[in-house]
Amino acid sequence: MSPRFLPIAAVALSVGALLARPLLAGTDLTLKEAAHGRFLIGAAINDRIVQGEEPAAAHIVEREFNAISPENCLKWAVVHPEPGRYDFTRSDAYVDFGVKHGLFIVGHTLMWHYQTPAWVFYNADGSLKSRAQVLAELRDHIRTVVGRYKGRIKGWDVVNEAFDDSGKLRTDRPWYKILGEDGILAAFKAAHEADPKAELYYNDFSLWLPAKRRAVIALVEKIRAAGLRIDGVGMQEHYLMSGPSPQMVGQAIDAFANAKIPVMVTELDISVLPRPNHYTGADLGQLQAKQAEFDPYVNGLPVRMENALADRYAAMFAVYRAHAEDIKRVTFWGVSDGDSWLNNWPIRGRHDYPLLFDRHFRPKPAFFAVMKALDHP
Ligand code: XIL
Repeated sequence: MSPRFLPIAAVALSVGALLARPLLAGTDLTLKEAAHGRFLIGAAINDRIVQGEEPAAAHIVEREFNAISPENCLKWAVVHPEPGRYDFTRSDAYVDFGVKHGLFIVGHTLMWHYQTPAWVFYNADGSLKSRAQVLAELRDHIRTVVGRYKGRIKGWDVVNEAFDDSGKLRTDRPWYKILGEDGILAAFKAAHEADPKAELYYNDFSLWLPAKRRAVIALVEKIRAAGLRIDGVGMQEHYLMSGPSPQMVGQAIDAFANAKIPVMVTELDISVLPRPNHYTGADLGQLQAKQAEFDPYVNGLPVRMENALADRYAAMFAVYRAHAEDIKRVTFWGVSDGDSWLNNWPIRGRHDYPLLFDRHFRPKPAFFAVMKALDHP
């Protein structure tokens, strides 16, 4: 290229950089570079990002992250909506996106009690299906889905959320009511047979609760004792401003490390909103008198809260950094605040601010706090 073209290229580049990172003058270190040598850094992505309908978010993913998780497109209800009918339209696009950008592609999830159609568990007359029927269905599903992406999806959340907070198997849910803990072992076995090279994980929330993580450690030991593959445990880490404390999270990581179980942070976000669980599923519009209380930051997050969120992220990443030897990946559950599931859970139609990029895809103080916490060496 002749030198006289350079200024034009330079202008184009700086405009691109300006759009991508308007607040980051003087540095273009990315998240994945800052985390390099410690852990992968990932984001869950939705179909709009994959399909190019949100180019600014896609650009952030390409630039900042080296791992992706599918927010919804690989859940049972999406890929296998009816008996014998699979639909891989969205998941194929997701995997193609990851391959195209050279990302570590995660699969999520094969066995979960949500986003799984009722026909998997119930006969037409409403009675529970037999153990043999449900096992056959689970194996067919795992063989088909894992097999399709063999060699491309590098790690699977095989089982999601099998225990309650006291560490009891969720036998109130059809998977475990019908199959018991054996169902989990069957799922890991089927996943390994479908792609012997894929990493296989158990994923759950609130593993900072000692009773719950003890149950998960016992499960991993059982899986190993059965001669089956399991590569690690995913700690979801959907957190609040009020807790859990970074110390408790560090203790959980230590407990897994002591049991020689690698950890991944798989669904990180920090909600700044109140969490009235008893309204789960409600629409904010129906909660007239509660709107101001439950959705206090409609017009933006006050600077004070912005900074408090940044401090909380910094404290969490200080823990991850200190435990980097035991953590393989840290994945955020989403890219920008506008897309976060927390705007619609537990109450629909709120304005949360749980991620590192704002509704205009600009890095927030929390982004810079994370970068600082990861600062080399
Ligand atoms: C959420 C998605 O983000 C939402 O879009 C969807 O409506 C419900 O599921 N734990 C998990 C994730 O393991 O799969 C969930 O994702 C969030 C909680």
